[in-house]
Amino acid sequence: MHRRDYEHDGFLVLERFVDPAACDALIARAGELVRGFRPDTVSIFTTREQTRTADDYFLDSGDKIRFFFEEDAIAPDGSFRYPLARSINKIGHALHDLDPVFSRFSRDPRLAELIGALGIAQPLLLQSMYIFKQPFVGGEVTAHQDHTYLWTDPPSATGLWFALEDATVGNGCLWVRPGGHTEPPRKRFHRRPGGGASFELLDDRDLPFDGMVPLEVPRGTCIVLHGLLPHYSGPNRSPISRQAYTLHVIDAAAHYRSDNWLQRSPALPLRGF
Ligand code: FE2
Repeated sequence: MHRRDYEHDGFLVLERFVDPAACDALIARAGELVRGFRPDTVSIFTTREQTRTADDYFLDSGDKIRFFFEEDAIAPDGSFRYPLARSINKIGHALHDLDPVFSRFSRDPRLAELIGALGIAQPLLLQSMYIFKQPFVGGEVTAHQDHTYLWTDPPSATGLWFALEDATVGNGCLWVRPGGHTEPPRKRFHRRPGGGASFELLDDRDLPFDGMVPLEVPRGTCIVLHGLLPHYSGPNRSPISRQAYTLHVIDAAAHYRSDNWLQRSPALPLRGF
């Protein structure tokens, strides 16, 4: 049933998937991680520049727990406009392997069952992110396909997006284009031989914007996103945060490219559920 809807629409919305206590536990844990963070590097996460040159702090974060700042939280002179805890855009990208609280949540047997039911036979947990979508300064995430960043041949990247707080149009919920996962990939983000990373344009047509619908969901909802489904989220200019945890899974049967931005050290190989 889920699989038929997923294959037709490119996404699933599963309300009440996570109970409120489990949402609270992740929110509390993320708060602890932020309180323990002493920035010696300020790396800003933005999706606005088309040919963003990713910094090493970002590129080396595939097997670490690192913190990325909101663009609008930092003044032109480099000072913070808000307290640090209100300035973090996200934490990434190996929470699911390195933090016991996130690891336990990410390896819930129900997730393995869900992913298996969608046809991913040999799942590997590739990437996790804790996204704050802070009040007032939460940045937009422009329309994209996750496969651009997490490329496998054939495409297998599948996103699990957990609303830890209510997500509304006002605080920057996800927008998706139902059925849009049949669109070919538009670009690929990859490492350059000389260092850094950039986008390779594969198809110069913009992702179609018409038909995007907002997914306003209560906390506890799990949204499953096909890797080719165009989606975005607007900025949060409201006083209410919209915290979410995301997990991306690939199929070990698909080939993961060696120049994908996200790479693991041999000391921390990818694992399944
Ligand atoms: Fe995404």
